[in-house]
Amino acid sequence: MAFLQLQGVSMGYGPASRRTEVLADIDLEIEEGEFVAIVGYSGSGKTTLMSILAGLLRPESGKVLFDGQDTPGPGPDRGLVFQNYSLLPWLTVYENVALAVDQVFPKLSDAERRQHTDRFVAMVNLTPARDKRPHELSGGMRQRVSVARTLSMQPKVLLLDEPLGALDALTRATLQDEISRIRLAEKQTVVLITNDPDEAILLADRVIPLTAGPRATLGPSIPVILPQPRDRRTLHQSYDFKQIRQEVIGYLLKATSRHRTTLSRSLVLPDVEPEDITHHSQRFFGSGRRARRPSELKTETVEVEL
Ligand SMILES: Nc1ncnc2c1ncn2[C@@H]1O[C@H](COP(=O)(O)OP(=O)(O)O)[C@@H](O)[C@H]1O
Ligand SMILES: [Mg+2]
Repeated sequence: MAFLQLQGVSMGYGPASRRTEVLADIDLEIEEGEFVAIVGYSGSGKTTLMSILAGLLRPESGKVLFDGQDTPGPGPDRGLVFQNYSLLPWLTVYENVALAVDQVFPKLSDAERRQHTDRFVAMVNLTPARDKRPHELSGGMRQRVSVARTLSMQPKVLLLDEPLGALDALTRATLQDEISRIRLAEKQTVVLITNDPDEAILLADRVIPLTAGPRATLGPSIPVILPQPRDRRTLHQSYDFKQIRQEVIGYLLKATSRHRTTLSRSLVLPDVEPEDITHHSQRFFGSGRRARRPSELKTETVEVEL
């Protein structure tokens, strides 16, 4: 029995008249201790998928099973890290992590909770910054606090929704290495969602492409047979890396071109034409024309390719 499982999950937003079908027929099985990366385009439904995995959203159809149970809602067992840090600005690094520890482990003594919090602040190399507030930290440091806070809850599965997307390339590389190190040391089950195939291959045991929306769905699972931990400096030269990269990107491109059907949709253009003011100038120009009012403006039908 898989540790975390999605069966035939579909999800959309909005009323029937303005409906967006986001995800369709998603099947996914994650085993305990696995690191799975899902790679997809922007806007394809990655956050929607992650929110379903975390129990924050109920899918419209299909099932989410966690540890064999039909899961009712979110909990500390499924720790989620978003792209935008979501720290409390008035608390220090230590306090942001401690807040989560206090909530999840109320039975520990004060000393034990302090020790636990310190351990996770140290795990992401933030001990020297433990008393700083978020505005005093760089983006990379903030994201490390976010990761430390989530890991401190000791979730059974760590869900990372493009956690490094907002960071510069060098900071991103450092954090990738930290995530890899922590994951190997803690034998943590991880689901990483990213739009970067290289990041996925660097970190994960297998990579699954998510096709472009609407009705995005998962493609085949591609195993990353490269030994861990991986060295980013030599990885790019590896034949296996290139093969896997080609497979992931090739699948995404092929699935997208299949998907590019031409749809016709009528658009009523916004009423942005300036009002005709010649009537104000009649006495200067002697024109007998009537003013055009917005209600008299024409609408046009435009065809767009989706
Ligand atoms: N709460 C919502 N209400 C309506 N539409 C939404 C909502 N959340 C996301 N969407 C739409 O669903 C699609 C997928 O969004 P999202 O899951 O955030 O994609 P991604 O994380 O891959 O960028 C987008 O078209 C987005 O506009
Ligand atoms: Mg997203």
